[in-house]
Amino acid sequence: MKVFGTAAAKIILFGEHAVVYGHPAIAVPVSTIRAAASVDLSHPSHSTRLQVFAQDVDRWVSLDESQEDGLSASIRRAISLLGFEPSGMAAAIHSDIPLASGLGSGAALTAALVRAVTLANSQYMSNETLNAIVYETERIHHGTPSGIDNTVIVYEKPIYFRRGHDLEPIRSAAPLMLLIGDTGISAPTKESVADVRRLYEDHPLEIESVLNQIGQIAEMSRALIESGDLLQLGRNMTDNHHLLQELTVSSHSLDRLVNAALAAGALGAKLSGGGRGGNMIALVEPTTKRAVSDSLLDAGAVRVIQTTVT
Ligand code: PMV
Repeated sequence: MKVFGTAAAKIILFGEHAVVYGHPAIAVPVSTIRAAASVDLSHPSHSTRLQVFAQDVDRWVSLDESQEDGLSASIRRAISLLGFEPSGMAAAIHSDIPLASGLGSGAALTAALVRAVTLANSQYMSNETLNAIVYETERIHHGTPSGIDNTVIVYEKPIYFRRGHDLEPIRSAAPLMLLIGDTGISAPTKESVADVRRLYEDHPLEIESVLNQIGQIAEMSRALIESGDLLQLGRNMTDNHHLLQELTVSSHSLDRLVNAALAAGALGAKLSGGGRGGNMIALVEPTTKRAVSDSLLDAGAVRVIQTTVT
């Protein structure tokens, strides 16, 4: 018998990078793009390998120490943190989430697998424990993650997040229709986070001011989401993008997609996640959705995904 565990992708609406320094940020799950793990209970013995089919990956991951890459290391770490010995581990993960693109693929793969293994072993795990496990595996990829990715993915609801504080769920007064445009360029978050750290060390006053402004935008945007002021929310997204440019985490491809979305009538647009590549998001209305999507594809997006936050 096979049992399954799944987890959603995520996007950051406001506050990436500044959230690492304790400023607030807002993230939402993208429930239509998921990682799904299966564990086959009828398998007679432990397997030391796990099959992973993710977008752009189709490979076996070794659960012994022979593979040194991040994915194997984080899966091994998750299993070692489970608190029990998994049995009958014939496991596979299928994921639609592009890797290293700001959509939380690593956290979602781990969360899905831990859910499946826990279920297969008739164990109960609270979201709090799962969140702590996924955070630990995120540290392998990101070094000093803020914790926003694992939190929004494990709880799968829109959140206002501050490092070291309990998550605060937020409710949107009006549906937020978003397009996610993928540059198709994978960019490790660890590097952009490290570059921002260096920039901060070299120019403390200027960068402190940029981080503060990003935090203020995130704070103000929470109220706008809760009151349904989409026009100002869109402007805030674009302002947030300009501040991320000052942190040097945008790129030519991301800027091109953001400009294309705005020119086609989006209410606002920004990069989402670590930046340098990966994805951007645009806030659209039913009347502009089609034109913005076409414009993103014309400007080089390899795919455009629609999601609505309610
Ligand atoms: O994993 P990504 O690319 O979605 O980026 C996470 C957001 C950052 O603020 C850049 C890093 C962090 O740990 O919060």
